[in-house]
Amino acid sequence: MARRVTFLDGVWSEKRPVLLVDGGDLFGSRNKNEKYQSTFLAEMTGEMGYDAIGLGERDLNYGLPFLKEMMATHGLPFINANVRDAGTGELILPEYVIVERAGIKYGIVSVLDPGRKIITMTAEEDAFQVDDPVATMRDVLPRLRKEADTILLLSHLGEPKTEELIKEVKGIDMCVIGHTSRNISAERVINDTAVFSSAYEGRYIGRANLFVDDADGRIMAIDVAITSLGDKRDGDEEVTARVEQYKKDLLEFKTAKRAAYPRTMGSDKETFLGDRACMSCHEDAWKVYMDSSHRSAFATIRNKGQSFEPECLSCHTTGFQHKKGYSDEPPFNKLANVQCEACHGYGTQHARDGKWVAQAKDSCIMCHDQKNSPEFDYAVYWEKIKH
Ligand code: HEC
Ligand code: HEC
Ligand code: HEC
Ligand code: HEC
Repeated sequence: MARRVTFLDGVWSEKRPVLLVDGGDLFGSRNKNEKYQSTFLAEMTGEMGYDAIGLGERDLNYGLPFLKEMMATHGLPFINANVRDAGTGELILPEYVIVERAGIKYGIVSVLDPGRKIITMTAEEDAFQVDDPVATMRDVLPRLRKEADTILLLSHLGEPKTEELIKEVKGIDMCVIGHTSRNISAERVINDTAVFSSAYEGRYIGRANLFVDDADGRIMAIDVAITSLGDKRDGDEEVTARVEQYKKDLLEFKTAKRAAYPRTMGSDKETFLGDRACMSCHEDAWKVYMDSSHRSAFATIRNKGQSFEPECLSCHTTGFQHKKGYSDEPPFNKLANVQCEACHGYGTQHARDGKWVAQAKDSCIMCHDQKNSPEFDYAVYWEKIKH
């Protein structure tokens, strides 16, 4: 982030007209920690003064209201021409923008791949309808041509589908590819369209110097360079300080969430051994466990993007609120899922006199509470995992 600012400062200091665009997928994965992180990213990106950002499916990870809030608060110029509200049929974002630089009008438009599933944390999965990019571009281009001299497409389709689109639709002057992991570091032209791309996670930045015909705004020549924002480059000091502060805030944010689930149970003297430690001596119990959903409880929350949330980990892992219980760092990360010891207790307390088995019966209701397991009935449920 800091290095990106330093790079851009360098470009701006040349005092030439700059057009700054992004191909999309700014936001992180679907969990609350990354949502928090994306708020910071949105703030910083807002300050960099982008002219347009194409919508990526990840940018809807936290729902449309969150995206709109970030756009309004931080002035993020997200655009898209083919994602609609399934209810009203209206586009969810501005269809395109016109940006004037040095007397030339650039029409910037973006499309998203209908093959990418839009999944949001706010459960609006069927809320969006994504139109065919080729049909969309055929519809929008003539209108855009009337307003702009040069057309720039932010194509959130990845590389192969972008190439198909460009071959189908004439009249796109330049194209920045989003949703790709490849740098295109040399000049590349497909059907009169100059194509650019730089790889993911903000690790690279691409720069294209355009030589434009003053008379009609046509691009005559382009020279392309990709810069790695690797560790060697010095970062902007002020931004580096803000990134450091943000990292501290994130840690506090995580700690505060964790604090609601203190590790007060159990004892530091005991240890969870992990399910594999029991396998060799208790084959029958192991078989039952392998077939039970306890064994996939962690995958269940991970599939919901919630595998960092204490409010889910408390029941979908082993010993989350016990000393030396599940944590996302090794060696305690092996305690994912509801393992043998979630019911039986620390393996180091293993006894063979009949006493150790008794406490397992009382364990169920710690997790099978009214809210999460309203149907719970010991006799019925035990029958399903009897061993
Ligand atoms: C540490 C928390 C925890 C404890 C203790 C626990 N369970 Fe569970 N149980 C779960 C979770 C979480 C699931 C759902 C797993 C999934 O599908 O991801 C589950 C699912 C089940 C299911 C499968 C339900 C179905 O119809 O698919 C049965 C049966 C079950 N538990 C029985 C029991 C019994 C009996 C006990 C006590 C002897 C018990 N559990 C103790 C957390 C727990
Ligand atoms: C108090 C314990 C507890 C907490 C906290 C908890 N769960 Fe569960 N969860 C369970 C139990 C027990 C079941 C099994 C319910 C049943 O089958 O009777 C379950 C089942 C589920 C299932 C259904 C699994 C299936 O069979 O498809 C999902 C999904 C799930 N939990 C997700 C979550 C998420 C996400 C969170 C955090 C927001 C969470 N749970 C928090 C105890 C808990
Ligand atoms: C969901 C909770 C739960 C999980 C997970 C679980 N157990 Fe149990 N286990 C129990 C309960 C409850 C009993 C006692 C049942 C009874 O006797 O009424 C029991 C009984 C046993 C017994 C004694 C059987 C006997 O009567 O001689 C052994 C051994 C055992 N479990 C081993 C394991 C092993 C090994 C695993 C993991 C592979 C495991 N359990 C996973 C709840 C669990
Ligand atoms: C080295 C072999 C061995 C290992 C490893 C082992 N057990 Fe046992 N376990 C036994 C023997 C032997 C008994 C007593 C005979 C029986 O009930 O099967 C026993 C008994 C039990 C009982 C009944 C205890 C009681 O109160 O009498 C439970 C529950 C149990 N084991 C669970 C586990 C769990 C959970 C693990 C893994 C953390 C585990 N065992 C690992 C050998 C082992």
